[in-house]
Amino acid sequence: VLLRFKDSITALDGEKHDVIHRKAEVNAAVSAELFKMLEQEKIPTHFLRLKEATLMQVRRLRMIPVEVVCRNIAAGKLVKSYPFFKHGEKLKTPLVEFFLKDDKRHDPLLSEEHMIASGLASKEEVKKLKMITLKVNSVLRKFMLKRGLLLVDFKIEVGRDHRGTLRVGDELNIDSMRIWDKKTGEVKDKDIYRKGGRLDEVARTYYQSYKLILGRDFK
Ligand code: C5P
Repeated sequence: VLLRFKDSITALDGEKHDVIHRKAEVNAAVSAELFKMLEQEKIPTHFLRLKEATLMQVRRLRMIPVEVVCRNIAAGKLVKSYPFFKHGEKLKTPLVEFFLKDDKRHDPLLSEEHMIASGLASKEEVKKLKMITLKVNSVLRKFMLKRGLLLVDFKIEVGRDHRGTLRVGDELNIDSMRIWDKKTGEVKDKDIYRKGGRLDEVARTYYQSYKLILGRDFK
């Protein structure tokens, strides 16, 4: 399967929509690097290779229509939904959450029981999904820390390959995670856009994060 990355950027379940010059190249390169790293750590992904700057060749997966979120620091929906999480507070333990991919219903939170009772995933798969997500968290968190970034949270999507093995699919980049500068707390991800930042500011953040994550200038 070939995945084409796009320059479009969306928020608020697709209500807000813009184009960021060369964002596709940034996100494809970051995704490729992070998927390679996960594979090296023995986490199965769909990644095969980056064929062109914005075209990724991947294994075909039957996707589970669920967004698996993992959080280390309280932010975003967690802070909006519950009174006891304060923005920026370190969580006592990494938190794994499942959300149904359904923009019209604003991606409702799914319990493990919802996942199993609906047949979205088996009990064994739910257990594996959590294990994969926590392992991705541990690998990604260490990687970001070495680059001066705090991994606040991220989202992955998982699918089954032809053997039924669960693999991390979709994308993993600046659109799908919150990363903050370790020293200054500065936001280095899509929240700049979600919070109404100017488009040139959003673009600059993507190019800067490319440099931080990949260790080379975005040319
Ligand atoms: O909005 P929320 O706080 O639930 O987001 C948690 C994490 O999941 C963030 O890193 C966000 O970028 C990511 N996310 C995503 N796609 C969505 C919803 C959340 O990549 N549709």
